[in-house]
Amino acid sequence: MKDRSNFSNKLGFVLAAAGSAVGLGNIWRFPYLAAQYGGGTFLLIYLILAVTFGFTLMIAEISLGRKTGLSAIGAFRSLDKRFNFLGILAVIVPVIIFPYYSVIGGWVVKYLFEYLRGSTSALAEDGYFPGFIADSAQAEIWFLLFGLMVAAVLFGGVKQGVERVAKVMMPLLVVLAVFVACYSVTRPGALEGVKYFLIPNFANFSWMTVVAAMGQMFYSLSIAMGILYTYGSYIKKDVDIEKSTKQVEIFDTAIAMLAGLMIIPAVFAFSGGDPDTLKAGPSLMFITLPKVFASMGFGTGAGILFFLLVLLAALTSAISLAESGVSTFEDQFGLSRRKSALLMGAVIVLFGSASALGFGALDFVSLLGMSILDLFDFLTNSLMMPLAALSTCILVTRVVGLDKISKEIEQSSRFKRKKMYYVFMKYLAPVCIVIILFSSIANVMGWIAM
Ligand code: TRP
Repeated sequence: MKDRSNFSNKLGFVLAAAGSAVGLGNIWRFPYLAAQYGGGTFLLIYLILAVTFGFTLMIAEISLGRKTGLSAIGAFRSLDKRFNFLGILAVIVPVIIFPYYSVIGGWVVKYLFEYLRGSTSALAEDGYFPGFIADSAQAEIWFLLFGLMVAAVLFGGVKQGVERVAKVMMPLLVVLAVFVACYSVTRPGALEGVKYFLIPNFANFSWMTVVAAMGQMFYSLSIAMGILYTYGSYIKKDVDIEKSTKQVEIFDTAIAMLAGLMIIPAVFAFSGGDPDTLKAGPSLMFITLPKVFASMGFGTGAGILFFLLVLLAALTSAISLAESGVSTFEDQFGLSRRKSALLMGAVIVLFGSASALGFGALDFVSLLGMSILDLFDFLTNSLMMPLAALSTCILVTRVVGLDKISKEIEQSSRFKRKKMYYVFMKYLAPVCIVIILFSSIANVMGWIAM
């Protein structure tokens, strides 16, 4: 077995895991899903899922990684050959996510650039964003730029530097987000939005809310895609897995909620709660935040700082996504690092361009009623990740054994939520995942209207 460099201390692990968890998922994806799928209802379901499901799955993946000392593919192979397909899923998921993640990353770079040029009021105009993404050349260029930034960081040997900068900047992101959220919720008319986001209204409930909340939980916590095994394999035996997991989750959820408070009330304050804006999907953050910045003093400065910090958070997540793609190519197909990186690069340009052009030159392409970017997002978050999570539950309960996992955790500390862990892994999680998988498939196939 290769020598694994351990995280120097417990904080190192929490920070690394938080760096991979906190990214566009929290700031871009969470608010638009919450806006689209019923506000408070979505939030409540998300929180319940995160403290039960998300918590148990995260713990399972991290402790399997630490126990075997291997990344996902190695861990599956060493445990049971029949679970090799999980390794394949672990390759496919980051390879599909990374390209469209870079498209959104490109949008962030574009907005940072525009704020630097002082286009604060132009960005706040209604047609600006749709015009931008419909312009194929622009969409492609900014996507490639973000991809190149990630490649430069990975191959330029400055990865550690960037991660260190990002860690220092992360608290600044929290401070700025608190400030912008306070500004946003105190605008005239914003209170309706605060209520919409925080108070559940069960008239808004649908199965798709649960599907969306679960997909978002996997995505945001980086569960069900192999990455947590790798982190687990690096941590020392005296790290309290349960407590660290809790810290990562709290941090991740806090940032997502702050982003929700920045963005959703702004829909009510600046667009009168227009239902179409609430359902804007992936564009939401880029439509609402410029209006917020344009309406405040120092808006240009706030815009520059905000998009810079978001870019850093996106970069650290993207780096870890790209790495997990490349290293699983190596492990699964026995390719050299160079070949894996080239293969990954080719897939990124192909899938990423398709996603970027999906709002412009390729906007006639619509599969299952979705744009290309939404389709990639749906395939991974609503189908592959639940499938991987389900298989992980089966692997843990049937092959490894729940007791072995809890022993691994108890090596360093008492396992406080052991009972909940057992019940979830064994019964609740698999049953819920099956129901949810079925409803998401049924929904897109149009078998049932939800
Ligand atoms: N969690 C990241 C975010 O919220 C995105 C992400 C999904 C990710 N899967 C990952 C990051 C795997 C690193 C590794 O933006």
